[in-house]
Amino acid sequence: MSNSNPIGFFDSGVGGTSIWNEVIQLLPRENSIYLSDSKNAPYGEKPIEEIIALSKKNTEKLIGMGCKIIVVACNTATTNAIQVLRTTYSLPIIGIEPAIKPAALKSQTKSIGILATKGTLSSKLFSKTSELYSKNINIIEVVGNGLVNLIEQGKQDSEEIKELLTTLLKPMLDAKIDYLVLGCSHYPYLLPGLKEILPSGVTIIDSGEAVARQTKKVLLENDLMSDSKNTPSHLLFSNADPIILSKLVHAEGDDLKKVSYLEF
Ligand code: SIN
Repeated sequence: MSNSNPIGFFDSGVGGTSIWNEVIQLLPRENSIYLSDSKNAPYGEKPIEEIIALSKKNTEKLIGMGCKIIVVACNTATTNAIQVLRTTYSLPIIGIEPAIKPAALKSQTKSIGILATKGTLSSKLFSKTSELYSKNINIIEVVGNGLVNLIEQGKQDSEEIKELLTTLLKPMLDAKIDYLVLGCSHYPYLLPGLKEILPSGVTIIDSGEAVARQTKKVLLENDLMSDSKNTPSHLLFSNADPIILSKLVHAEGDDLKKVSYLEF
């Protein structure tokens, strides 16, 4: 294994590119491979056994492609499968957890919102983190039903999604939240719509930067940082129509990013 081997990413679909993007910005010498398992999206409604099986399939594909480290760019897969992945495979595996801690510590209204999938909110890992803070703070959990499907169809800026968000966010607004935690890697693509709906005093937090910093730390600890002087290559694969993925990462006209269809 050489340090110029790629960092592997997977998500239930296109949304994990919000995480991938933060990582490649922070680590501009790294090569990457991204798997968008759009054929099986969304994961958030699936039973835990299926989420684990899909996460293993994606991880094995990335290992087979020579990845030196895996970033699970999906909250649902992280909260339900990361322990199994870490005990099954020997390479470093990084996950995303919703940023409840910073929101809970900074909230003035003592009321914060978390928008995530059913799979994330019902997971043991999420409940453990949430319990730590729910004694002092009111945490309004809302399942983002339907959001991932619309983003997978490229409809993140549509009226349809704005109407859905208005309904989903109502209980949070009623509870006077001052922080909204995005607990799904697809949701950063909703930021323009969210900012229109939420009062300006509500801070929105996602986990992209924290995952990028953690990835850098783990690469350094394992002596795996790329020191390549070559231009990095970013290969992104979808097992459904790759056009949405290509548009989301602005691959057209960017020679560093190659988006293709792949059966996996
Ligand atoms: C999903 O596939 O339902 C959403 C992915 C995520 O939780 O990040």
